[in-house]
Amino acid sequence: MKKVRIGVVGLGRLGYRHAENIANITRHAELSAVCSIDDQELAIARKELDVRHCYNDFQTMLDQCELDAVAIVSSSDQHAPQTLHALEKGLHVFCEKPTGISHEECKAVEQAVNNYPHLVYMPGFMRRYDPSYAYAKKKIDEGYIGKPILFRGYSVDPESSIEGALKYAASSAGQFLDMAVHDIDLARWFLGAEPRSVYAIGGCFAHPEYEQYGDGDNVAALMQFDNSSMAFFLAGRTAPHGYNVETEIIGTKATLRIAAVPQKNMVELIDPTGVRQECSQTFQERFQEAFVNEMQEFVDCIREGRKPEITAGDGTMSTFIAELATKSFKQNELIKIEN
Ligand code: NAI
Repeated sequence: MKKVRIGVVGLGRLGYRHAENIANITRHAELSAVCSIDDQELAIARKELDVRHCYNDFQTMLDQCELDAVAIVSSSDQHAPQTLHALEKGLHVFCEKPTGISHEECKAVEQAVNNYPHLVYMPGFMRRYDPSYAYAKKKIDEGYIGKPILFRGYSVDPESSIEGALKYAASSAGQFLDMAVHDIDLARWFLGAEPRSVYAIGGCFAHPEYEQYGDGDNVAALMQFDNSSMAFFLAGRTAPHGYNVETEIIGTKATLRIAAVPQKNMVELIDPTGVRQECSQTFQERFQEAFVNEMQEFVDCIREGRKPEITAGDGTMSTFIAELATKSFKQNELIKIEN
Protein backbone atom coordinates (compact mmCIF):
# COMPACT_ATOMS: atom_id res chain seq x y z
CA MET A 1 0.00 0.00 0.00
CA LYS A 2 1.18 3.50 -0.72
CA LYS A 3 1.43 6.14 1.98
CA VAL A 4 -1.63 6.64 4.18
CA ARG A 5 -2.99 10.10 3.39
CA ILE A 6 -4.08 11.77 6.61
CA GLY A 7 -6.03 14.96 7.23
CA VAL A 8 -5.61 16.47 10.70
CA VAL A 9 -8.44 18.50 12.21
CA GLY A 10 -7.46 20.77 15.10
CA LEU A 11 -4.10 22.53 15.13
CA GLY A 12 -3.98 23.65 18.74
CA ARG A 13 -1.63 22.54 21.52
CA LEU A 14 -1.83 18.88 20.54
CA GLY A 15 -3.15 18.97 16.96
CA TYR A 16 -0.12 20.80 15.67
CA ARG A 17 2.14 18.22 17.36
CA HIS A 18 0.27 15.31 15.74
CA ALA A 19 0.43 17.09 12.36
CA GLU A 20 4.15 17.69 12.80
CA ASN A 21 4.75 14.05 13.75
CA ILE A 22 2.78 12.78 10.74
CA ALA A 23 4.66 15.14 8.41
CA ASN A 24 8.12 14.35 9.76
CA ILE A 25 8.22 11.12 11.75
CA THR A 26 5.40 8.65 11.09
CA ARG A 27 6.51 6.02 8.56
CA HIS A 28 4.33 5.31 5.50
CA ALA A 29 2.14 8.35 6.23
CA GLU A 30 1.57 11.68 4.53
CA LEU A 31 0.13 14.87 6.00
CA SER A 32 -2.27 15.57 3.14
CA ALA A 33 -4.48 18.25 4.68
CA VAL A 34 -5.12 20.23 7.83
CA CYS A 35 -8.24 21.89 9.18
CA SER A 36 -8.79 24.49 11.88
CA ILE A 37 -11.26 27.27 12.54
CA ASP A 38 -8.26 29.47 13.35
CA ASP A 39 -6.77 31.05 10.20
CA GLN A 40 -3.53 31.90 11.95
CA GLU A 41 -2.96 28.25 12.84
CA LEU A 42 -3.60 27.30 9.21
CA ALA A 43 -1.08 29.88 7.98
CA ILE A 44 1.58 28.51 10.36
CA ALA A 45 0.90 24.91 9.27
CA ARG A 46 1.08 25.89 5.58
CA LYS A 47 4.44 27.56 6.13
CA GLU A 48 6.08 25.27 8.69
CA LEU A 49 4.71 21.88 7.62
CA ASP A 50 4.55 22.57 3.91
CA VAL A 51 0.97 21.29 3.73
CA ARG A 52 -0.87 22.52 0.65
CA HIS A 53 -4.47 21.67 1.47
CA CYS A 54 -5.69 23.84 4.34
CA TYR A 55 -9.37 24.12 5.32
CA ASN A 56 -11.38 26.01 7.88
CA ASP A 57 -14.33 23.62 7.57
CA PHE A 58 -14.11 19.90 8.34
CA GLN A 59 -16.84 18.78 5.95
CA THR A 60 -15.19 20.72 3.10
CA MET A 61 -11.90 18.95 3.82
CA LEU A 62 -13.66 15.58 3.62
CA ASP A 63 -15.51 16.56 0.42
CA GLN A 64 -12.59 18.11 -1.45
CA CYS A 65 -9.43 16.29 -0.40
CA GLU A 66 -8.42 12.75 -1.27
CA LEU A 67 -7.79 11.18 2.12
CA ASP A 68 -7.48 7.68 3.56
CA ALA A 69 -7.77 8.75 7.18
CA VAL A 70 -8.35 11.62 9.57
CA ALA A 71 -6.75 12.46 12.90
CA ILE A 72 -9.31 14.32 15.02
CA VAL A 73 -7.63 16.66 17.49
CA SER A 74 -10.26 19.39 17.66
CA SER A 75 -12.10 20.47 20.81
CA SER A 76 -13.63 17.55 22.70
CA ASP A 77 -17.22 18.50 21.83
CA GLN A 78 -16.39 18.04 18.11
CA HIS A 79 -14.94 14.52 18.43
CA ALA A 80 -18.09 12.43 18.08
CA PRO A 81 -19.78 14.41 15.27
CA GLN A 82 -16.54 14.59 13.27
CA THR A 83 -15.90 10.86 13.81
CA LEU A 84 -19.36 10.03 12.47
CA HIS A 85 -18.86 12.23 9.38
CA ALA A 86 -15.47 10.72 8.63
CA LEU A 87 -16.66 7.11 9.00
CA GLU A 88 -19.61 7.87 6.71
CA LYS A 89 -17.10 9.14 4.14
CA GLY A 90 -15.27 5.82 4.34
CA LEU A 91 -12.22 7.16 6.20
CA HIS A 92 -10.18 5.52 8.94
CA VAL A 93 -10.32 7.56 12.16
CA PHE A 94 -7.81 8.32 14.85
CA CYS A 95 -9.59 10.41 17.50
CA GLU A 96 -7.99 12.05 20.51
CA LYS A 97 -9.50 11.41 23.90
CA PRO A 98 -12.32 11.65 24.81
CA THR A 99 -14.24 9.55 22.27
CA GLY A 100 -17.26 11.77 23.01
CA ILE A 101 -18.34 14.06 25.79
CA SER A 102 -21.31 11.90 26.83
CA HIS A 103 -22.09 8.22 27.09
CA GLU A 104 -24.74 8.64 24.36
CA GLU A 105 -22.24 10.25 21.96
CA CYS A 106 -19.76 7.42 22.57
CA LYS A 107 -22.42 4.77 22.00
CA ALA A 108 -23.26 6.42 18.66
CA VAL A 109 -19.57 6.30 17.71
CA GLU A 110 -19.32 2.66 18.81
CA GLN A 111 -22.38 1.79 16.71
CA ALA A 112 -20.93 3.54 13.65
CA VAL A 113 -17.57 1.80 14.14
CA ASN A 114 -19.41 -1.54 14.17
CA ASN A 115 -21.25 -0.54 10.97
CA TYR A 116 -17.93 -0.04 9.14
CA PRO A 117 -15.85 -3.08 10.16
CA HIS A 118 -13.38 -2.52 7.29
CA LEU A 119 -12.35 0.85 8.77
CA VAL A 120 -9.86 1.36 11.58
CA TYR A 121 -11.06 3.45 14.53
CA MET A 122 -8.52 4.23 17.23
CA PRO A 123 -9.16 6.33 20.34
CA GLY A 124 -6.10 8.33 21.39
CA PHE A 125 -5.14 7.10 24.85
CA MET A 126 -1.45 7.58 24.24
CA ARG A 127 -0.20 6.48 27.65
CA ARG A 128 -0.75 2.86 26.56
CA TYR A 129 1.93 3.52 23.90
CA ASP A 130 4.46 5.06 26.31
CA PRO A 131 7.30 2.53 26.73
CA SER A 132 7.15 2.65 30.57
CA TYR A 133 3.39 2.07 30.73
CA ALA A 134 3.62 -0.67 28.10
CA TYR A 135 6.38 -2.35 30.13
CA ALA A 136 4.31 -2.12 33.33
CA LYS A 137 1.37 -3.73 31.53
CA LYS A 138 3.60 -6.58 30.36
CA LYS A 139 4.84 -7.18 33.94
CA ILE A 140 1.25 -7.23 35.25
CA ASP A 141 0.15 -9.65 32.52
CA GLU A 142 3.10 -11.91 33.38
CA GLY A 143 1.84 -12.03 36.98
CA TYR A 144 4.78 -10.12 38.47
CA ILE A 145 2.67 -8.05 40.91
CA GLY A 146 0.39 -10.96 41.80
CA LYS A 147 -3.22 -9.97 42.36
CA PRO A 148 -3.75 -6.22 41.77
CA ILE A 149 -4.86 -4.36 44.92
CA LEU A 150 -4.73 -0.64 44.10
CA PHE A 151 -4.18 1.66 41.14
CA ARG A 152 -3.15 5.21 42.03
CA GLY A 153 -2.98 7.86 39.29
CA TYR A 154 -2.12 11.54 39.60
CA SER A 155 -2.53 13.78 36.56
CA VAL A 156 -1.87 17.41 37.39
CA ASP A 157 -1.16 20.10 34.82
CA PRO A 158 1.33 22.84 35.63
CA GLU A 159 0.03 26.05 37.15
CA SER A 160 2.00 27.81 34.39
CA SER A 161 -0.55 26.59 31.79
CA ILE A 162 -3.65 27.65 33.76
CA GLU A 163 -4.55 30.47 31.38
CA GLY A 164 -4.99 28.03 28.46
CA ALA A 165 -6.80 25.51 30.67
CA LEU A 166 -9.30 28.14 31.78
CA LYS A 167 -9.88 29.15 28.16
CA TYR A 168 -11.12 25.69 27.16
CA ALA A 169 -12.74 24.85 30.54
CA ALA A 170 -16.20 25.49 29.07
CA SER A 171 -15.80 22.92 26.26
CA SER A 172 -13.70 20.32 28.13
CA ALA A 173 -16.61 18.70 30.05
CA GLY A 174 -14.68 18.88 33.33
CA GLN A 175 -11.54 17.55 35.01
CA PHE A 176 -12.70 13.94 35.18
CA LEU A 177 -13.38 13.74 31.46
CA ASP A 178 -10.52 15.98 30.38
CA MET A 179 -7.72 14.88 32.75
CA ALA A 180 -8.67 11.83 34.84
CA VAL A 181 -9.93 10.01 31.73
CA HIS A 182 -6.33 8.89 31.02
CA ASP A 183 -6.03 7.33 34.48
CA ILE A 184 -9.50 5.79 34.19
CA ASP A 185 -8.37 4.10 30.97
CA LEU A 186 -5.12 2.95 32.59
CA ALA A 187 -6.88 1.62 35.69
CA ARG A 188 -9.23 -0.52 33.56
CA TRP A 189 -6.27 -1.70 31.46
CA PHE A 190 -3.96 -2.54 34.37
CA LEU A 191 -6.58 -3.93 36.76
CA GLY A 192 -8.34 -5.90 34.03
CA ALA A 193 -11.71 -5.04 35.54
CA GLU A 194 -14.57 -2.52 35.49
CA PRO A 195 -15.56 -0.21 38.34
CA ARG A 196 -18.64 -1.04 40.38
CA SER A 197 -18.73 2.06 42.58
CA VAL A 198 -17.29 5.58 42.54
CA TYR A 199 -17.08 8.42 45.03
CA ALA A 200 -15.60 11.76 44.00
CA ILE A 201 -14.71 14.96 45.80
CA GLY A 202 -12.78 18.11 44.95
CA GLY A 203 -12.64 21.86 45.20
CA CYS A 204 -11.39 25.17 43.85
CA PHE A 205 -8.19 25.70 45.79
CA ALA A 206 -6.57 28.37 43.60
CA HIS A 207 -8.99 29.11 40.75
CA PRO A 208 -12.59 29.94 41.71
CA GLU A 209 -13.27 30.41 37.96
CA TYR A 210 -13.95 26.65 37.77
CA GLU A 211 -16.99 27.02 40.04
CA GLN A 212 -19.10 28.41 37.18
CA TYR A 213 -18.66 25.08 35.37
CA GLY A 214 -19.56 23.06 38.48
CA ASP A 215 -15.94 21.89 38.49
CA GLY A 216 -12.88 22.08 40.73
CA ASP A 217 -9.28 22.97 39.96
CA ASN A 218 -8.37 19.73 41.74
CA VAL A 219 -10.66 16.72 41.99
CA ALA A 220 -10.22 13.19 43.34
CA ALA A 221 -12.10 9.92 43.09
CA LEU A 222 -12.06 6.56 44.77
CA MET A 223 -13.39 3.50 42.94
CA GLN A 224 -13.85 -0.18 43.63
CA PHE A 225 -13.66 -2.57 40.73
CA ASP A 226 -15.58 -5.77 40.10
CA ASN A 227 -12.53 -7.90 41.00
CA SER A 228 -12.38 -6.05 44.38
CA SER A 229 -9.30 -4.02 43.38
CA MET A 230 -9.37 -0.29 44.17
CA ALA A 231 -8.32 2.88 42.41
CA PHE A 232 -7.53 6.40 43.55
CA PHE A 233 -7.37 9.29 41.08
CA LEU A 234 -6.24 12.90 41.43
CA ALA A 235 -6.69 15.32 38.54
CA GLY A 236 -5.80 18.97 38.73
CA ARG A 237 -4.41 22.14 37.20
CA THR A 238 -2.17 23.62 39.86
CA ALA A 239 1.14 21.72 40.06
CA PRO A 240 3.64 24.43 40.98
CA HIS A 241 6.65 22.46 39.72
CA GLY A 242 5.59 21.21 36.25
CA TYR A 243 3.60 18.49 34.50
CA ASN A 244 2.95 15.85 37.16
CA VAL A 245 1.77 12.48 35.94
CA GLU A 246 2.60 9.61 38.25
CA THR A 247 1.16 6.14 38.54
CA GLU A 248 1.38 3.29 41.01
CA ILE A 249 -0.01 -0.22 40.84
CA ILE A 250 0.15 -2.18 44.08
CA GLY A 251 -0.26 -5.94 43.98
CA THR A 252 -0.06 -8.85 46.42
CA LYS A 253 3.49 -9.67 45.31
CA ALA A 254 5.00 -6.40 44.09
CA THR A 255 4.42 -2.73 43.37
CA LEU A 256 5.10 -0.84 40.15
CA ARG A 257 5.66 2.90 40.05
CA ILE A 258 5.85 4.93 36.88
CA ALA A 259 7.42 8.39 36.97
CA ALA A 260 6.98 8.77 40.73
CA VAL A 261 9.24 11.80 40.34
CA PRO A 262 8.25 13.77 37.22
CA GLN A 263 11.85 14.22 36.14
CA LYS A 264 12.66 15.85 32.82
CA ASN A 265 15.63 13.58 32.10
CA MET A 266 18.48 11.74 33.86
CA VAL A 267 20.52 14.90 34.56
CA GLU A 268 21.18 15.97 38.14
CA LEU A 269 22.00 19.63 38.73
CA ILE A 270 24.55 20.09 41.47
CA ASP A 271 25.19 23.62 42.71
CA PRO A 272 25.62 25.54 45.98
CA THR A 273 21.92 25.05 46.80
CA GLY A 274 22.17 21.26 46.63
CA VAL A 275 21.41 18.44 44.20
CA ARG A 276 18.22 18.44 42.13
CA GLN A 277 16.51 17.21 38.96
CA GLU A 278 14.38 19.36 36.69
CA CYS A 279 10.74 18.42 36.07
CA SER A 280 9.06 17.84 32.72
CA GLN A 281 6.92 20.88 32.03
CA THR A 282 4.38 19.87 29.38
CA PHE A 283 2.44 16.84 28.16
CA GLN A 284 4.09 17.24 24.76
CA GLU A 285 7.54 16.86 26.36
CA ARG A 286 6.62 13.95 28.66
CA PHE A 287 4.67 11.92 26.10
CA GLN A 288 6.27 12.73 22.73
CA GLU A 289 7.40 9.12 22.25
CA ALA A 290 3.89 7.87 23.12
CA PHE A 291 2.25 10.27 20.62
CA VAL A 292 4.63 9.06 17.90
CA ASN A 293 4.09 5.39 18.78
CA GLU A 294 0.29 5.60 18.81
CA MET A 295 0.13 7.35 15.40
CA GLN A 296 2.52 4.72 13.99
CA GLU A 297 0.25 1.98 15.34
CA PHE A 298 -2.77 3.65 13.68
CA VAL A 299 -0.99 3.82 10.31
CA ASP A 300 0.38 0.27 10.63
CA CYS A 301 -3.11 -1.05 11.44
CA ILE A 302 -4.50 0.58 8.26
CA ARG A 303 -1.67 -0.79 6.11
CA GLU A 304 -1.76 -4.27 7.63
CA GLY A 305 -5.57 -4.56 7.70
CA ARG A 306 -5.74 -5.14 11.46
CA LYS A 307 -7.37 -3.39 14.42
CA PRO A 308 -5.62 -1.71 17.37
CA GLU A 309 -5.88 -3.37 20.78
CA ILE A 310 -7.69 -0.31 22.13
CA THR A 311 -11.29 -0.10 20.95
CA ALA A 312 -14.20 2.29 20.66
CA GLY A 313 -15.68 0.37 23.61
CA ASP A 314 -12.69 1.41 25.73
CA GLY A 315 -13.36 5.01 24.76
CA THR A 316 -17.02 4.64 25.73
CA MET A 317 -16.19 3.11 29.12
CA SER A 318 -13.73 5.88 29.99
CA THR A 319 -16.26 8.59 29.20
CA PHE A 320 -19.01 6.70 31.06
CA ILE A 321 -16.90 6.35 34.21
CA ALA A 322 -15.69 9.96 34.01
CA GLU A 323 -19.33 11.08 33.74
CA LEU A 324 -20.26 9.08 36.83
CA ALA A 325 -17.30 10.54 38.74
CA THR A 326 -18.44 14.04 37.72
CA LYS A 327 -21.99 13.24 38.90
CA SER A 328 -20.66 11.90 42.21
CA PHE A 329 -18.58 15.06 42.67
CA LYS A 330 -21.53 17.35 41.93
CA GLN A 331 -24.00 15.41 44.11
CA ASN A 332 -21.51 14.46 46.81
CA GLU A 333 -22.64 10.86 46.91
CA LEU A 334 -21.31 7.39 46.23
CA ILE A 335 -22.57 5.99 42.93
CA LYS A 336 -23.04 2.27 42.40
CA ILE A 337 -22.55 1.11 38.84
CA GLU A 338 -24.95 -1.48 37.49
CA ASN A 339 -23.45 -4.07 35.17
P1 NAI B 1 -6.76 23.62 21.58
O1 NAI B 1 -7.88 24.45 22.13
O2 NAI B 1 -5.37 24.08 21.73
O3 NAI B 1 -7.02 23.36 20.01
C1 NAI B 1 -8.29 23.04 19.51
C2 NAI B 1 -8.20 23.04 17.99
O4 NAI B 1 -9.43 22.57 17.46
C3 NAI B 1 -7.97 24.44 17.39
O5 NAI B 1 -7.06 24.31 16.32
C4 NAI B 1 -9.34 24.81 16.85
O6 NAI B 1 -9.26 25.69 15.74
C5 NAI B 1 -9.83 23.45 16.41
N1 NAI B 1 -11.28 23.36 16.27
C6 NAI B 1 -12.23 23.54 17.22
N2 NAI B 1 -13.46 23.36 16.69
C7 NAI B 1 -13.27 23.04 15.39
C8 NAI B 1 -14.15 22.73 14.33
N3 NAI B 1 -15.47 22.71 14.49
N4 NAI B 1 -13.61 22.44 13.12
C9 NAI B 1 -12.28 22.45 12.93
N5 NAI B 1 -11.39 22.74 13.90
C10 NAI B 1 -11.88 23.04 15.12
O7 NAI B 1 -6.96 22.18 22.22
P2 NAI B 1 -5.86 21.04 22.50
O8 NAI B 1 -5.30 21.22 23.85
O9 NAI B 1 -4.95 20.90 21.35
O10 NAI B 1 -6.82 19.76 22.61
C11 NAI B 1 -7.43 19.22 21.48
C12 NAI B 1 -8.00 17.86 21.84
O11 NAI B 1 -6.93 16.99 22.19
C13 NAI B 1 -8.95 17.89 23.03
O12 NAI B 1 -10.06 17.11 22.77
C14 NAI B 1 -8.17 17.30 24.18
O13 NAI B 1 -8.97 16.52 25.04
C15 NAI B 1 -7.14 16.44 23.47
N6 NAI B 1 -5.86 16.43 24.19
C16 NAI B 1 -5.30 15.23 24.50
C17 NAI B 1 -4.13 15.18 25.22
C18 NAI B 1 -3.51 13.89 25.55
O14 NAI B 1 -2.75 13.85 26.51
N7 NAI B 1 -3.79 12.82 24.83
C19 NAI B 1 -3.44 16.40 25.64
C20 NAI B 1 -4.09 17.61 25.19
C21 NAI B 1 -5.26 17.61 24.51
